[in-house]
Amino acid sequence: MTKKVILSGMRPTGRLHIGHYVGALENWIKLQNEYQNYHLIADYHVLTTNLNSENIYRDSIEMLIDWLSAGLDPEKSPMFRQSQIKEHAELHLIFSMLITVSRLERNPTLKDQVRDLNIDALVYGHLGYPVLQAADILLYKGDKVPVGEDQVPHVEITRELARRFNNQYGEVFSEPEPLLTKFSRLVGLDGNAKMSKSLGNTILLSDDAEAVKSKLRKAVTDPQKLRKGDPGHPEVCLVFSYHKRFNPDEVPAIDADCRSGKLGCVDCKLKCASKISEFLEPILEKRKHYEANIETVKEILADGETRARRIAVATMQEVREKMKIG
Ligand code: TRP
Repeated sequence: MTKKVILSGMRPTGRLHIGHYVGALENWIKLQNEYQNYHLIADYHVLTTNLNSENIYRDSIEMLIDWLSAGLDPEKSPMFRQSQIKEHAELHLIFSMLITVSRLERNPTLKDQVRDLNIDALVYGHLGYPVLQAADILLYKGDKVPVGEDQVPHVEITRELARRFNNQYGEVFSEPEPLLTKFSRLVGLDGNAKMSKSLGNTILLSDDAEAVKSKLRKAVTDPQKLRKGDPGHPEVCLVFSYHKRFNPDEVPAIDADCRSGKLGCVDCKLKCASKISEFLEPILEKRKHYEANIETVKEILADGETRARRIAVATMQEVREKMKIG
């Protein structure tokens, strides 16, 4: 039996943080054994919010190194840049004829971005963001799309475009389904519900033990626990939420000792920092290897792009035949 296809991607905004790992990468890495995975570096999508991105190529390579270091296997999972496979732009254009402006204006993810990023003049490409994402997914005939909650509306639009194309021109695409990540979010170091680069509240996958320690030292904790001895409330503490993810064995003891006042925040943070660094250590090791062998990284990307392109070209051929374009 041929494997079902997973397609997922991220916008290259530089180095990844542990929130990316918990929310997406970890899941991709697990899934690559069961599915045929394809992973895309969305270096056109990144232009919707980072028009002045200093160096898209460098950011893409940094992200690829994080993917590889975290455990994505380039043999199993081709990794490639959207911009290097022209078929993405081509299918995006065709799909843009099959969806109305008002449908795209109703996209809740877009509305959230317009609000959160204070966008006062929306560009055409941002409105069409999910149309390009649909092309990303359907070129590879993705069956499952592992994403966070905020991307589900985009997968829904992808399903609509697949249906619309099939009705209009004949069956080419099947309708992909989102695959929601269980632990989808990690709280930021400042207590913000989301760990995010733009909020400056992240721990990077490439942070060494010193960096992790100094970042955690500044992390917000239970405001009612001012000094060791005060009874704490772990349920409101972000450091406790990190313990749950990176130090599960000690969670019951930490819970009890925080509440009783026996464990102070300074010690609790040190313990947490060392557990996070323990988790990051093998990733850092691999990063060092890839940084010292950047040619290998480039070869991996070129190979991923060759393999992905083969699929994309074949799908576009089918599309053109059905459309009687040429
Ligand atoms: N929009 C996704 C995000 O911001 C990135 C992305 C681009 C993507 N193309 C994709 C995700 C295709 C899944 C499938 O996270």
